Amino acid sequence: MKLNYSDPNRLAITNALVITIFAIVANVLLVLLSTGKPALLLVIGINSLSLGVAFFLFRFTLEKFIYEKIKIIYKTIRNLKLPKDADRTAIMGSSLDKVNQEVIEWGETKKKEIEELKKMAGYRREFLGNVSHELKTPIFNIQGYVLTLLDGGLEDPSINKEYLFRTEKSINRMIAIVEDLETISHLESSELQLKESRFDITLLTREVIEFLEIKSKKLNTSFIFGGNYDKPIFIKADKERIRQVLINLIDNSIKYGNPENGKTKISFFDMDENTLIEVTDDGNGIEAADIPRVFERFYRTDKGRSREQGGSGLGLAIVKHIIEAHNQTINVRSTMGVGTTFAFTLKKA
Ligand SMILES: Nc1ncnc2c1ncn2[C@@H]1O[C@H](COP(=O)(O)OP(=O)(O)OP(=O)(O)O)[C@@H](O)[C@H]1O
Ligand SMILES: [Mg+2]
Repeated sequence: MKLNYSDPNRLAITNALVITIFAIVANVLLVLLSTGKPALLLVIGINSLSLGVAFFLFRFTLEKFIYEKIKIIYKTIRNLKLPKDADRTAIMGSSLDKVNQEVIEWGETKKKEIEELKKMAGYRREFLGNVSHELKTPIFNIQGYVLTLLDGGLEDPSINKEYLFRTEKSINRMIAIVEDLETISHLESSELQLKESRFDITLLTREVIEFLEIKSKKLNTSFIFGGNYDKPIFIKADKERIRQVLINLIDNSIKYGNPENGKTKISFFDMDENTLIEVTDDGNGIEAADIPRVFERFYRTDKGRSREQGGSGLGLAIVKHIIEAHNQTINVRSTMGVGTTFAFTLKKA
């Protein structure tokens, strides 16, 4: 008969039966072995034997019983998948206090996991809200222009071309947002593979400055280098991603720099195995309270001015992702009324 060690009633009955049978056998032996009055030694001997049998029987079944119960808890909290006897010794080796401690710790980890999930769910909700909010503006603008054109504006030479241009601008805005979103989701998924190569960061910076020339002229920004960089500074990184980083930082320095004759300074510093790259502007600066948040998606410090410049608040989030994917760091320091510096490191090559 196979005993079920997780049923306390059956265990108790079986134990009681075994001990009773043993007691009967002992008593019969006692009667048979002793003629007349049983010898004291024989009584003590046989009773001690019963005690021993009862002790080992209880111990064995109790251990089995506790093991059967605790095994289930352990399986849940540790996902134990050990061979039959290995986990038995592992479990029985630990005291019940330890089991209790482990269960408490397990509960706390689960609680943290749930809180994390809740936070993520909130984050996702906020993110979706932000996305639709950002897309709504250009969509409504386009709707307005198209309706005006349909309502006779098409025949009015003073507005027809202008409204088509504005429509195109709004479409470009939407494309830019969608592209930024795509970049972010790509960067956040683990599939991000860096295509690292060795290149001259000063040359790449000059290319980016040239690329942003029209915008910088429009917003009266000029560029200066913080040193004489006629020798190349080689680094090892994903060139196209770093181009994106420089575009986003320099674009910000133009947008949020001094509107009258703003100056953006770009400097490179030698730091052991890394190169430190700094982009400094002479704009209004970022308030201390906003500094830890500027890298968040969709975060804008001055909603009015940022909106006027057409930003959606994704640029710095992308920058941070790219730098962290390179296992490097980026930070920002800013003084109100003086300007802002973004500094990041890249590995020398
Ligand atoms: N150099 C800077 N000086 C002052 N404020 C800045 C500077 N760079 C960024 N900020 C603030 O941080 C916010 C976030 O910047 P981020 O580049 O992420 O977004 P954006 O420029 O508004 O939009 P996007 O880059 O997506 O077009 C900006 O809206 C602005 O308020
Ligand atoms: Mg930006």
